[in-house]
Amino acid sequence: MEPVRWGVLSTAKIGTEKVIPAMQRGTLCRIEAIASRNQARASEAAARLGIPRTHDSYEALLADPEIEAIYNPLPNHMHVAWTARAADAGKHVLCEKPLAMTAAEAETLIAARDRAGVRIEEAFMVRNNPQWLWAREQVRSGRIGRLRAIQGCLTYRNMDPDNIRNRVEVGGGGLYDIGSYPITMSRFVLDAEPTRAVALMERDPDFATDRLTSAMLDFGDAQASFTCATQLARFQTMQLLGTEGWLHVELPFVMEPDRDCRILIGDGTFPGALAASEQRFSAVDQYTLQGDGFSERVRTGAPSPFPLENAVRNMAVIDALFRSAANGGWEAV
Ligand SMILES: NC(=O)c1ccc[n+]([C@@H]2O[C@H](COP(=O)([O-])OP(=O)(O)OC[C@H]3O[C@@H](n4cnc5c(N)ncnc54)[C@H](OP(=O)(O)O)[C@@H]3O)[C@@H](O)[C@H]2O)c1
Repeated sequence: MEPVRWGVLSTAKIGTEKVIPAMQRGTLCRIEAIASRNQARASEAAARLGIPRTHDSYEALLADPEIEAIYNPLPNHMHVAWTARAADAGKHVLCEKPLAMTAAEAETLIAARDRAGVRIEEAFMVRNNPQWLWAREQVRSGRIGRLRAIQGCLTYRNMDPDNIRNRVEVGGGGLYDIGSYPITMSRFVLDAEPTRAVALMERDPDFATDRLTSAMLDFGDAQASFTCATQLARFQTMQLLGTEGWLHVELPFVMEPDRDCRILIGDGTFPGALAASEQRFSAVDQYTLQGDGFSERVRTGAPSPFPLENAVRNMAVIDALFRSAANGGWEAV
């Protein structure tokens, strides 16, 4: 299968440090060009990463006729506008999470996608990870009985005022950046949508971004809760609690590509917190799997397991949580 010719919008850290090298290690992605608002930055990144061509503007990259697909790791508030422009230029787009600032904004991309006849997906790389496919399969097969509750957590400590996570005007804050993961993965394993949501949110007095958020999602037959924070010690976990057992996903979101991971499996026997067994997974690079999967769908035209409509529904949960944090009560999703 012929690799897809990719262009990258900006010299974003996630692209240059993780996603581009990972896609270059794959078999179906060729990173052909990178664009920056600053030519020197584009040239430096291209030289370091062995990318053949550079552009000194995002517009020039979208006008590049050799490029078939765009990877968009711009700050959150620019995701929709530049993804739409790329689609209008006839390019497929893999856009970083969160896809948009609101569900209404995300929804505009459905029309852009259909108008242009291209593929647009949100880059939640964790959904490509074999451990999550395995966990979902265990839930579906009834191994832990009925999945009734999910608990998640994702935190880091970042006090840099210049970092996009601490700049409210570019879509900073913990809920967009990391709360979006437990929301996505709760919906993924339950294969369902929450009907209402509630959030307790604390904002940084200087940055005005949400720095500590705890939330609950009502899935009817199941409840999901999570905490995300931008000013706490680094931590991540996800626990799926069923009537007959539980799964503890030790490294649910952020992984190093050379690190094996495991899921602990409990059967509810005393004292409850000890695993009865474990499932180990060899190290994989989630970004390589993501890039190759997207490229393969570009070539084959196969339907996406992560269509835009799914991203719109994820944004609707985030919308409800922001409304709840402001109003102090449950909000319909
Ligand atoms: N999937 C994941 O694992 C993962 C991990 C981290 C981040 N992300 C997502 O990736 C995106 C980028 O995150 P990042 O930490 O890599 O960001 P970053 O290093 O700050 O990069 C953002 C890039 O956007 C460009 N840009 C254009 N207008 C800008 C503006 N007004 N302010 C700041 N930058 C501007 C800049 O590139 P030029 O100067 O070259 O034009 C900048 O390098 C976010 O949406 C984030 O949620 C995903």
